[in-house]
Amino acid sequence: MGATITLDFITHRFRAGGAPTLENIDNRIEAGERVALIGRSGCGKSTLLHMLAGLLLPSEGCVRVNSHQVTKPSAKWNMMFQKPSLYPWMSVQENAALGLLFAGQPKQEASARVSELLDKVGLHDKKDVNVQSLSGGQQQRVALARSLATDPEVLLLDEPFSALDAFTRSALQEDVPAICGARGITMVIVTHDIDEAITMADRVLIMSQNPGRIVSELKVDLPWPRNSSSQEFQTLRNELMQRFRDTDDGLSGRKSQPEPAVRRVV
Ligand SMILES: Nc1ncnc2c1ncn2[C@@H]1O[C@H](COP(=O)(O)OP(=O)(O)OP(=O)(O)O)[C@@H](O)[C@H]1O
Ligand SMILES: [Mg+2]
Repeated sequence: MGATITLDFITHRFRAGGAPTLENIDNRIEAGERVALIGRSGCGKSTLLHMLAGLLLPSEGCVRVNSHQVTKPSAKWNMMFQKPSLYPWMSVQENAALGLLFAGQPKQEASARVSELLDKVGLHDKKDVNVQSLSGGQQQRVALARSLATDPEVLLLDEPFSALDAFTRSALQEDVPAICGARGITMVIVTHDIDEAITMADRVLIMSQNPGRIVSELKVDLPWPRNSSSQEFQTLRNELMQRFRDTDDGLSGRKSQPEPAVRRVV
């Protein structure tokens, strides 16, 4: 079962006395909710996700998971980074099973569980090969199977699909929220991609930059799996784009930067 995450007035400065990278981030993510965090490059999305994972402590405020203050990482929360971190001397199957083995699961059970997930992420014919012989996108899928194998309470994803081809990305954009939904895993995904956010989330949080704040949020009340060519999807896409423009106008009085990526899922 997923966990509730509370962001309690988080402010963060990388340098004491310097300008805040994050300011007054205040939000609550319900157990089992799937949330997308979108914002421009450098606005502080990864910084915030690292805080949710317990990898970084805020200068002010705190993160609470099920009311307990997060002060260090937990085996119950898994994070997938922009680049996969795999052990290069191990096979696909061994890498994917690591979390389960660390948690004390017998090797045979771990193998069966991981095998099922590797099928799901399209690596059924790669289980015994060394991860070094895989492409970047295939390696990222191993990392995803490993993240899901332990049935985490919370799954944190930092632009996990940026290295994948369009077809695999599209399949995983549908599969990952479905798996999280079926198991009640609380999911937070960081992305630049508005379509990805609408495809994967129950709610989208929009961040401003300098300092990073959550300036707007939008509920995605569409049936699963999401249909990116539906009228309702397009309406939400336009609404999110408009909110981005409003954020920029509100902050700087002009649209000084390129708009975030808008890509139809193929
Ligand atoms: N360890 C650090 N020390 C100092 N500054 C940092 C550190 N990590 C990140 N920053 C700065 O904090 C800001 C936010 O960085 P962060 O990586 O969270 O952005 P992001 O929104 O994830 O960007 P992107 O979309 O490009 O991944 C950036 O200006 C970055 O340079
Ligand atoms: Mg980042």
